[in-house]
Amino acid sequence: MTVPHADAAPISRTAAWVAAFRAAESARHDRLFNDPYAARFALDPGVSRVRGGNLAAAVVTARTVTFDALILRTIAHEHIDAVLSLACGYDTRPYRLPIPPSVTWIECDLPYVLRHKAAQLEDAKACCRIEHVAGDLRLPEVRARLLADVAARFKRVLVITEGLLLYLTPDEAHGLAAAFHGCPPVCYWLTDLMSPAARNRMNRMAHRELNNADTRLNFAPAAGARAFVHQGWDPVDARGTFAEMRRIGRMPGLIMGTVLHIAAALAPHGFNGTVLLRARKDMSTTT
Ligand SMILES: C[S@@+](CC[C@H](N)C(=O)[O-])C[C@H]1O[C@@H](n2cnc3c(N)ncnc32)[C@H](O)[C@@H]1O
Repeated sequence: MTVPHADAAPISRTAAWVAAFRAAESARHDRLFNDPYAARFALDPGVSRVRGGNLAAAVVTARTVTFDALILRTIAHEHIDAVLSLACGYDTRPYRLPIPPSVTWIECDLPYVLRHKAAQLEDAKACCRIEHVAGDLRLPEVRARLLADVAARFKRVLVITEGLLLYLTPDEAHGLAAAFHGCPPVCYWLTDLMSPAARNRMNRMAHRELNNADTRLNFAPAAGARAFVHQGWDPVDARGTFAEMRRIGRMPGLIMGTVLHIAAALAPHGFNGTVLLRARKDMSTTT
C-alpha cells in the first residue's frame, strides 16, 4: 500500500489540510462554494483535530470565498489573459469556477503536489487551458524562468499566492514582490496576509501540525496591506478575514468572535485577510 504524501516535501502537507477544510465546507447543506474535488486530496484526518480547527476552517472558507470573487472580477474587468497560481496546492478553481476559456491558468508548486494533483484530476474537465510548472519558488532561477516565459507569451497577468507568503521569510516574500513587479505583464497580485499577533497565535495553536510539516508561520508584515508599496504594489481591495467571516456567517461562536475582536484591538499592527494589489509600473523598485 502506498502512503499518501510519503514522498512529498513536508511543507506540502499543508495543501492537504487546506483541501480538507474546503471538502468540509463543500459537504455542508448551506455551503458557500462547492469544490467537488477537494475530498480527493483531503487525506489528512488530523486536520479537524487541530486546536482551533473550527477557526482555521472558517478562515479557509472566508479566504476561498474572497479569492473566488476577486479572481472572477479581476479577470472580467482587467482583460487578464493568464493567471499564475503560485503554490497552487490542490486548488481546483479552473475546474469549479467559470474561468473564461481565453485565459491560460498556470499552476506552480513542488513536483510531488503537481504529480499527485494531475493523477487525481485525470477525469476532471477544466474550463480553460491549464499548464503545470514544477519547482521551488524560493529559488530565484526558478522564478526568473517562469516569469520570462510568462512575459514572452501574455499581455495581462494576475498572480495568485494563496497560503504561501506566511511560510516564507520576509526576504523571500519581498524577493517575490520584486520579481513580480519586474515582469511587465504582471499587473495584479492577489494574496492573503497575516498580522504578527495572528501568526504568533496560530504558531502556538497548531504547533504540532506545523512541526509535522516541518514549518512555522513566518511572514506577517506589520505594514499589513501596504507591505509591498516600496516595491511598486498598491493595495486596491483589502478584505479583513474576520469581517468576511461575519459577512458570510462563518464566525466560529460568540466567545471566539469576542476573543478575536479583543485580540485585534490589543495588537493593531498588520492585516489579516486578502488583498488585491495593483502594480505601479511608472517607478523603479527600491530593493
Ligand atoms: C497552505 S498550502 C496552499 C495551497 C493552495 N494555494 C491553497 O490555498 O489550497 C501551501 C502550498 O505551498 C507550496 N509550497 C510551499 N513552499 C513552496 C516552494 N518553496 N515552492 C513551491 N511551492 C511551495 C506547498 O507545496 C503547498 O502546496
